[in-house]
Amino acid sequence: MHSASPHSGPDGYQSGFANEFATEALPGALPVGRNSPQRAPYGLYAEQLSGTAFTAPRAHNRRSWLYRIRPAAVHQPFERMAAEDPGGASPRLVANFAQVPPTPPNQLRWDPLPLPDAPTDFVEGLVTMAGNGSAAAMSGCAIHLYAANRSMHDRFFYSADGELLIVPQAGRLAIATEMGRIDVEPSEIAVIPRGVRFSVALPDASARGYVCENFGALLRLPDLGPIGSNGLANPRDFLTPHAAYEDREGAFELVAKLDGLLWRADIGHSPLDVVAWHGNYAPYKYDLRRFNAIGSISFDHPDPSIFLVLQSPSDTPGVDSLDFVIFPPRWLAGEDTFRPPWFHRNVASEFMGLVHGVYDAKEEGFMPGGASLHNCMAGHGPDAATFERASTMDTSKPQKVADTLAFMFETRTLLRPTRFALEGAQLQARYFECWQGLRKRFDAARR
Ligand SMILES: [Fe+2]
Repeated sequence: MHSASPHSGPDGYQSGFANEFATEALPGALPVGRNSPQRAPYGLYAEQLSGTAFTAPRAHNRRSWLYRIRPAAVHQPFERMAAEDPGGASPRLVANFAQVPPTPPNQLRWDPLPLPDAPTDFVEGLVTMAGNGSAAAMSGCAIHLYAANRSMHDRFFYSADGELLIVPQAGRLAIATEMGRIDVEPSEIAVIPRGVRFSVALPDASARGYVCENFGALLRLPDLGPIGSNGLANPRDFLTPHAAYEDREGAFELVAKLDGLLWRADIGHSPLDVVAWHGNYAPYKYDLRRFNAIGSISFDHPDPSIFLVLQSPSDTPGVDSLDFVIFPPRWLAGEDTFRPPWFHRNVASEFMGLVHGVYDAKEEGFMPGGASLHNCMAGHGPDAATFERASTMDTSKPQKVADTLAFMFETRTLLRPTRFALEGAQLQARYFECWQGLRKRFDAARR
């Protein structure tokens, strides 16, 4: 890709969250003073890409202007992709969660997805595990896993259903987008906005991870309240690429995801042909190792909202449709405190994944690349072995939880697992046993 922009951020990225970025891969490619001049520089076409309603309040209004070699409209008609079988028993992609099997109240946990045997790229490797709402209603989310072993060759993808929050677990992703290139590795995340076209290459030959496709309001940084003006995920650590473009013609394929279905169209040129752009609707990456984790320095274990990275607000103040929460390496210092996550039942529904290491409430069975789902009011918490250890440990000294990076997609409404999740080989049928060793400890005669 051609990129000639000066570097205003680290490693060639632009720094900040949803800033009014301005970037050009050729000098003078960005029009000055107007968005759509009669003739854009270099013979480029001007095109607006909006991510919020035109009339959204200014603080939440997101759009960008793209200056490109050909408008996004230039492609052959879309047709349904043959590989997709929505009428089949187990469609790989689900976008309407009214159409999945009944959701059991059980705690659910899954082994990691194996790498595929057949050549499979990022798009082909996506499979939906759970979700809520529907893409058509632009409300809720779909949680996918991906396992891939080949780069996307001359194939480009976009989702009209939602923005894609990508959490790599194994293998780096080189994501070439319309608006520039993003490289992510495990412990980092990437967010590709709804509609932005991209192609994923695999520098490590294979890759596995998690994707939360957010149908609802765009992810944003939470307010910090009494925490103050710094902390948690700091805006300067969000990195957006500089403009970079391909001027390439050939027999390429554009794949669109709309209402949960995949469609393909022939396209005679690379759609990654944006030479310059400006605006605040753009892909970004964030290194989770830069998250400033805050916790108790006296006693007790705060609610996990203290680990909130990004939120998708609902129409109800204080209630998010989707939260992205991480459990990063940190010190545990609570004195006379049960330090791992306590036993709990929540109104929210919690889908968890593990990037590396061990999660401090589950020392076995919850594996990197695996997942768990504790839906609304499902009782859960530390397993029996963790409870025994944490109940007897010395809490007079702080303890470092070093090798760990778990995360949670937490939603306001029930996360409905798909047929693939409920009937696939990865489901751990004996997950419930991890709590069966929690013996009766009560003794009315001994306080
Ligand atoms: Fe939980």
